[in-house]
Amino acid sequence: MNAVELLKHDHEAVKQLFERLGKTTERGIKTREELMRHLHEELMTHARLEEEIFYPAFRAASGKEGEVLFHEAKEEHRAVEALILPDLEKTDPASSEFAGRVKVLKDMIEHHIEEEEQEMLPKACELLGEERLEELGAQMESRRKELKRQAGERAA
Ligand SMILES: [Fe+2]
Ligand SMILES: [Fe+2]
Repeated sequence: MNAVELLKHDHEAVKQLFERLGKTTERGIKTREELMRHLHEELMTHARLEEEIFYPAFRAASGKEGEVLFHEAKEEHRAVEALILPDLEKTDPASSEFAGRVKVLKDMIEHHIEEEEQEMLPKACELLGEERLEELGAQMESRRKELKRQAGERAA
């Protein structure tokens, strides 16, 4: 998979997790906890791949216009990681507050994904070219494996 395909693939996985979370109720505590763990891992890994590999390559190729997109995207990651996700993870999945917080996170992430897919990714395709996108995709795949291994070691 090239870098753009890989990112879109991740986006779909995240959207599906939100859809499943949206169908849970206050009685489905175990399911909510499990989906939250999964979502956390998907979001953090995806953000690392973008921030370490894809965004810098995009930024380097894109000049002034891309600079704004770059900072905006990074700031949205930060808001999710530092504020919204930790709050949600502290929220009792048996409470009615939980669904409200999931909805806010979902809206924010969908907006972020849409901006990446409508603006950043098409621009990246134009600027970087197929060969470079393949190379970045391979780098991201191997970084993902490394992050998974590290997460496994921490959990053990
Ligand atoms: Fe992103
Ligand atoms: Fe993304």
